[in-house]
Order: sequence, then C-alpha cells, then structure tokens
Amino acid sequence: MSQPPPPAYTGPERVLSGVQPSGALHLGNYLGALVKFARLQHERETFIFVADQHAITVWQDPALLAQQTREIAAAYLAAGLDPAKAAIFPQSAVREHVELAWVFNCVARLGWLDRMTQFKEKSGKHKERSSVGLYTYPVLQAADILVYKATHVPVGEDQRQHLELTRDVAAKFNHDYDAPGFFPLTEALTQGPGARIMSLRDGSAKMSKSDPSDLSRINLTDDADAIASKIRKAKTDPEPLPEGLDGLAERPEAKNLVGIYAALAGKTDAEVIAEFGGKGFGTFKPALADLAVAQLAPVGERMRGYLADPREIDRILKAGADRARAVAAPVVDEVRRKVGFISL
Ligand code: TYM
Repeated sequence: MSQPPPPAYTGPERVLSGVQPSGALHLGNYLGALVKFARLQHERETFIFVADQHAITVWQDPALLAQQTREIAAAYLAAGLDPAKAAIFPQSAVREHVELAWVFNCVARLGWLDRMTQFKEKSGKHKERSSVGLYTYPVLQAADILVYKATHVPVGEDQRQHLELTRDVAAKFNHDYDAPGFFPLTEALTQGPGARIMSLRDGSAKMSKSDPSDLSRINLTDDADAIASKIRKAKTDPEPLPEGLDGLAERPEAKNLVGIYAALAGKTDAEVIAEFGGKGFGTFKPALADLAVAQLAPVGERMRGYLADPREIDRILKAGADRARAVAAPVVDEVRRKVGFISL
C-alpha cells in the first residue's frame, strides 16, 4: 500500500514576488510580473520586494544599486501597487530572508542546484569565477517565498524552475523536521499573456535587462518616441500576418509582436490574429506602437514623478519592511525551534 500524502498546508493564502534591481525594467518585467502584482494585491495579502540581495550575486556598483532599488519601487507604484494594500520593501531590510536561507542551504541538495539552467546561463564558460551566491541564488529565493509562507508567486516563465526548487525545499524541510504542512507547496502563477516576452531583435531570445542592445527591449522609462521607434525597428519577416494562429508557429518575431499586442490590449493571440490576419507589418506595427505608447508612456511618467521624491519612496519601503518583518519573524522563530537552535 502506498503512503498517504502528508497533510497539506492550511494557513492563509499569501502572494509574494520580487524583481532584481540589476538594470532598467522592461516590457517583459512589466507584463510578466508587475501587471500581475497590481491585480493580485486585491485578492490576497501581498508582499512585493526589491531583490537587492539577489542583485549582488553579480557585481553591482553600490551607488547604482541604491538608485535602482528606488527605481524598482517607483515602478511598482507606477504600475498600480498600493502601499496601503501590498507591503513593498527591499529584501535586505528584512533580515529573516537570509536567516532562513542559511537553514535552507542545509536542506537543499547540491544535485538540485546543479540542474538550475539560470546558473548555467549566467555563469557561462567561467563557472569557477562565479560568486558562490550566484550558485545558491535559488535557495535564497526559496527563503524569500517561504519566510512568508507564500502560497502564490506571480512570475514570468523563466522563474518556473526556481519555483519547483522552492517546493522541493518546502517538502524536504517539512519531512526532515517532522513538520507536515508547515511550509506550503507554493504555486507559480505564470498563466496569462505576457509570461514570456522575447527580444525585439531576436524572437528566440528572452527580452532581458542584460541584452547589450537597447533596441532589443522597451524600457519602462522610454518616452513615447523611443517606444514607437523601437517597435518600428523590431525585427520581422516580409510576410503579412497569418490568417490563423498555426501560421505563427515558425515565425518567432511575428508571434512575439502578436503576443505583446495581446498582453497590452488584454486580448488573446487569436483575437489579435482575427483583427490583423492578412495585414502586413506596415499596418500592424503602427497599431502596436500606438497601443504600447498609450499603455506604457503614462507608467514611465508616473515613475519619474515618484522618483522626484526619494524620501517618500524610502518612507514607503520602511513601512513595508516593518509589515513584512511582523510576518517573517515569527516564522523564523518557529524554524529555529524546529531545527533545535536554543533561544537565549
Ligand atoms: P527578474 O528580476 O529577472 O525579473 C522580474 C520578473 O520579470 C519576469 N520576466 C519576464 N516575464 C516575461 N517576459 C520576459 N522576457 C521576462 N523577463 C523577466 C521574471 O520572470 C520575474 O517574474 N529571481 C527573480 C527575482 C526573485 C523572486 C524571488 C521572484 C528573487 N526572489 C521570490 C519571485 C519570488 C528574478 O531574477 O527576476
């Protein structure tokens, strides 16, 4: 007879996510993450942080890191996160993340980390020269999530593997410390349009902060002219858009632009193809540029407005960190007891 499954987590449902302050935010971050955060804050208790500790796994100029941390906070606010609803804070301001990460370093197995594709991508040919932090990065991510016992994590597709590792860590901790249902098996929320936005220069590469070509991405701080010009210059093929979705299968650049249009308009790819099928990029690109400018330019404007008052941003981040600690500290206290650390 097979063993019955361990009892499931029965605590409150919570949403958590974060973005690294390691470069300018782009359309992929906006559609894959920020838009979802703003929606979910109305549904469950929500924690959204700036992943400054993750950012230093690769070298960051200290002054720039501080500035980019505030920029991400401003982007959260500009995208509609409400500090009265969601707790918004820098990861480094809540020490419980790293305290739990150490325990999880002792729970996670080397073999699990060896499988992480993001480490392989980021370390490239010179694995031995990467920081140890880059390697254990997903363990800190598991701690970010489980220190709030978060049940739902809105992220883009590229974070799926890290979320699987988070579940493995939770299950192993619950098992090893005889604590069934203590940590939830967190769900990644990747569904919906915008979960994987590709580069505007190469439909087979993810839109990314680290792409050397600025033409590959639309930054949230780009003004209307820059947005329109990048869409005009986006790589495409000479064919008109197909009449059906199947016709996009072998056309990554066309598929990406259709996906971006759908995500920005709140439509499905099929609805966009129904509208633009048979039309050339000479028609589709200007329509996409108008839509992108209408949606994104105001976000950039609002961001600049928030950034004009960094003291107010810091006040919001401090209040968010206090709220976050109030949830995280008791979880870490419980973990300390379970692990056998004496309290003095
Ligand atoms: P980061 O900073 O690389 O990206 C932030 C969010 O944006 C999403 N994203 C995309 N979505 C669609 N298309 C794209 N081209 C695209 N590029 C990025 C990412 O999936 C992510 O949701 N490890 C995380 C930060 C993190 C975190 C966490 C997230 C640290 N701890 C705990 C969730 C929970 C990262 O590097 O995201």
